[in-house]
Amino acid sequence: MKTFTLNDGNAIPAFGLGTWKSSEGDAYRAVKEALRVGYNHIDGAWIYQNEDEVGRGICESIKEGIIKREEVFVTSKLWNSFHAPEDVEKGCQETLTKLGLEYVDLYLMHWPVAFRSGKLMPEGTEDFWPLSDLPLSKTFKAMLKLRDKGLVKSVGVSNFSISKLEKLIAESGVVPAVNQVELHPYNPQEKLFTYCSDKGIHLTAYSPLGSGDRPEFLKQKGEPPILENQVVKVTAAEEGLTPAQLLIAWAIDRGTSVIPKSANPSRIAENLAAASHTLSTKARSAIDGIDTRFRYVDIKEWYLPGITYEGSDFWV
Ligand code: A2P
Repeated sequence: MKTFTLNDGNAIPAFGLGTWKSSEGDAYRAVKEALRVGYNHIDGAWIYQNEDEVGRGICESIKEGIIKREEVFVTSKLWNSFHAPEDVEKGCQETLTKLGLEYVDLYLMHWPVAFRSGKLMPEGTEDFWPLSDLPLSKTFKAMLKLRDKGLVKSVGVSNFSISKLEKLIAESGVVPAVNQVELHPYNPQEKLFTYCSDKGIHLTAYSPLGSGDRPEFLKQKGEPPILENQVVKVTAAEEGLTPAQLLIAWAIDRGTSVIPKSANPSRIAENLAAASHTLSTKARSAIDGIDTRFRYVDIKEWYLPGITYEGSDFWV
């Protein structure tokens, strides 16, 4: 499996299994199947509420000799309700206990948004910590201490825009190893891509297939499904790939790691096969040339100017 080297010297496999939206039972079976067929990278998070199942899949596979702990790259994410520095280790420990692991390979701040301690989901603006009271850099510094304690190997962020990265780096003096964001041909985030390349921040692509299984409240009317895009379909056929495989191969060819979610054994295998495909130059430019723009994961209720971000747009 191809890997990318992070700015702290650790290596991240280019391809992994996403577990967001994998329901109870599915998450365990998907992780076990993935590790059995050759995956070595599992992406999870506290808020996915399936870390016990994900962990059971990983730990059983280790016990059965399918993979060694040091051979599987496990990512988790600090939920928004653990941003207070005194809560950060608690959030991480809850994840480690559920996973049944002594450390995770990568720990990300899930969102640049902080909820009051204990608030799983905010019900009103009073449930958010204003950035002025609890800057993201304070949370990030507490996360770096987890690395010093050996609970996590690498520390990064997720859903961070350029301005938020710049502020975080200026205030903490540390460049995050990874920024995991929504990336696919409809949301290639070229400016962020260039900024992160220049800074040595590795990008991981979430929702690379358009996350068609998102809950209804996260969907917008008339969304363009990327797997149905004509250029994607035609180019995939020319490359001898399925549309999903083409999107995975494109992501890796760009230099991003990619974590498609599947709970289906044949699609789990299909997606892995894409990771070793070498994309032709023609296919790469055909996909680069798609000009439809769409962001699938956009939780507008959390975008509160003056509270959760400064400036005119959450994503800038
Ligand atoms: P399933 O879990 O039944 O395989 P994303 O990674 O962008 O969040 O997308 C996940 C969605 O894409 C899920 O609905 C998943 O369904 C579906 N999916 C995963 N792999 C493939 C594939 N190879 N072809 C078509 N759909 C896929």
